[in-house]
Amino acid sequence: MSLTIASAPGKVILFGEHAVVSGVPALGAAIDLRVRARIEDAPGKLEISIPDMRLVIEGFSLDLITEKVLTEDISKKAILAARYVYAVLKRFDASNLRVVVESEIPPSSGLGSSASVVVATLAALNHHQELGLSLEDLAWESHQVEKEVQSGLGSPMDTALATFGGYQLIQAGPQQSLDLPELDLVVGWTGVPHDTKFEVEKVQNFRTKYPHIVGPIFESIGEISREALNLMKDGQLEELGQLMNANHGLLEAIGVGTKELSDLAYAARGAGEALGAKLTGAGGGGCIIAIPPTDPQGLVKTMTAISQAGGKPFHVATGCEGARLE
Ligand code: PMV
Repeated sequence: MSLTIASAPGKVILFGEHAVVSGVPALGAAIDLRVRARIEDAPGKLEISIPDMRLVIEGFSLDLITEKVLTEDISKKAILAARYVYAVLKRFDASNLRVVVESEIPPSSGLGSSASVVVATLAALNHHQELGLSLEDLAWESHQVEKEVQSGLGSPMDTALATFGGYQLIQAGPQQSLDLPELDLVVGWTGVPHDTKFEVEKVQNFRTKYPHIVGPIFESIGEISREALNLMKDGQLEELGQLMNANHGLLEAIGVGTKELSDLAYAARGAGEALGAKLTGAGGGGCIIAIPPTDPQGLVKTMTAISQAGGKPFHVATGCEGARLE
């Protein structure tokens, strides 16, 4: 019986979320948390199974099903993941299959789990059914599926990063792959799910009401993204951290910060000695990212501080490989 396994990475937005919706550049990176999709023949059946949504990181295993705070949410998220898988299968008229999806990426956290589910499933299907899709096709088709399930919403950044990996600069027009060095980051998960559509609409309404105020904030965010590119190329982490802090402040100014996110960002920068920290993604919940100090204990310091402030910390490397067969 033939069996195909493919995987795709999650992502973080390093700089430029929300401003990118109005055409200002944003910088995103693939991270080394992955979704794996296994497809096998199942004559006469179409089965989708999301056996668990476990987060397994750095030797400790956080079983989201037994995490009290997430127990209710997780089954809904598993159902949502199954909808993405089903949308892929439907788009390509696939049947007589069993699809099993496993994710290391916490759902609804701004780390691109839905795009990774779509890309991993389609990458596996592409090989299994010999669809002949190129990487460009994979990114494009996956973006269409994501938008379909999300009622028209979704920037191409998540599916591009899940497909191509590495780094992507997104602005008006097609996204652009970038060659930048790997960065060690600490992600701090608030455990509060976020609602991208709600946050985007809120910010866009604010912009419509006060274009002369929000416009310049978006422009500043765009300048941060441009400047950050050069700093990353040169490995200037302290300056990059400073710009992260500035970007966080501007995101607070447009109303997508929360106490939980800022508690984690300030803990990371304070006791955690991070060089900088900001919320990542749509805000209103989800995660922060922080650049840990470069000394040997740096990672542990930042992770401990985030944990003590009530967040779930994990270490990610950026710029990782995109979709691949396993
Ligand atoms: O919540 P996330 O990680 O999917 O990020 C959304 C990013 C926004 O800029 C707020 C929206 C978008 O489509 O770019």
